[in-house]
Amino acid sequence: MELLRQRSLEQRSALTGGEADADERAVEAALRPRSLDEVIGQERVREQLSLVLQAARSRGRAADHVLLSGPPGLGKTTLAMIIAAELSAPLRLTSGPAITHAGDLAAILSGLNEGDVLFVDEIHRMSRPAEEMLYLAMEDFRVDVVIGKGPGATAIPLEIPPFTLVGATTRAGLLPGPLRDRFGFTGHLEFYGADELDEIVRRSAGLLEVETLPDGTAEIASRSRGTPRIANRLLRRVRDYAQVRADGVVTRDIARRALDLFEVDESGLDRLDRAVLDALCSRFGGGPVGLSTLAVAVGEERETVEEVAEPFLVRNGMLARTPRGRVATAAAWAHLGLDVPAPAQSDRQPGLFDG
Ligand SMILES: Nc1ncnc2c1ncn2[C@@H]1O[C@H](COP(=O)(O)OP(=O)(O)O)[C@@H](O)[C@H]1O
Ligand SMILES: [Mg+2]
Repeated sequence: MELLRQRSLEQRSALTGGEADADERAVEAALRPRSLDEVIGQERVREQLSLVLQAARSRGRAADHVLLSGPPGLGKTTLAMIIAAELSAPLRLTSGPAITHAGDLAAILSGLNEGDVLFVDEIHRMSRPAEEMLYLAMEDFRVDVVIGKGPGATAIPLEIPPFTLVGATTRAGLLPGPLRDRFGFTGHLEFYGADELDEIVRRSAGLLEVETLPDGTAEIASRSRGTPRIANRLLRRVRDYAQVRADGVVTRDIARRALDLFEVDESGLDRLDRAVLDALCSRFGGGPVGLSTLAVAVGEERETVEEVAEPFLVRNGMLARTPRGRVATAAAWAHLGLDVPAPAQSDRQPGLFDG
């Protein structure tokens, strides 16, 4: 089931899904900013982090634990790597799903040196016993290694050197309170504005040695769903198109034709997004309709609709999540070129229960 879900998310990552697959991760590594100064946008988090890191450096101690939260593709992994780089500390990398037993975590923790940065991606997917071990390690720099089972089991405390934990999560709400409270600093990454994305596309084009015109990069930026990973991905597809069907230069016209071919529309909506809106409006009269019903209607997994399509539609003001179900807003009807039915459910204060 988990595997299926993962696969379905990966297939979706084809063009506008938030997650990166293995091939893409290699390309991404080349495009990652390496220092806080190179990071584009996220002014607030950048300034906060810079302060936290500078303070730690001047005290000569391990920095406070940092939690980075936000949708896929906004720069969590990038920032984790930058944190280690700015602290001139080695980065140890693992992820929630990789830690199935507390023992896995104990092994990682006991191998840390003073000042190391431990990055736990998708930290909300860690097992409960591992989570509990992590609380203790974060607070007291100690783990209890349990030997034996049942009433005869004994816990042997093991000291670990002070380290900095960097956790990343797409679902901060799923983190248990005690874990969340042990982070000294939480950075919430926001979707990027069009100008920032434009800058990111221009930077990436430079690194990939792709020739672009300003309105070409702006066109890519405007269809990137506020997400650098998607901006970089669209850039690569437009580059392909420019090389095969034109002279290699990314103009606005080339960008438009390429993205139309890959079914990414002017608002950055792809086929699944449009299918969701279409089902919601044409089949369910604009809602409210339950997530499961909606997912069945578009032939997708519930999680794919919820984690891939919806965040963008909600943010774009096209879909509202209400206690009674999903509701299309006037913007959704307009986007599909349909008239809002009167009296429409969708006129009821969309946004009230967003998120
Ligand atoms: N602020 C930024 N400036 C420039 N590029 C960025 C920025 N944030 C993310 N990227 C690019 O987007 C891609 C995805 O970022 P990543 O850190 O892997 O996202 P996440 O871990 O949140 O899913 C990376 O290749 C990185 O180069
Ligand atoms: Mg990541």
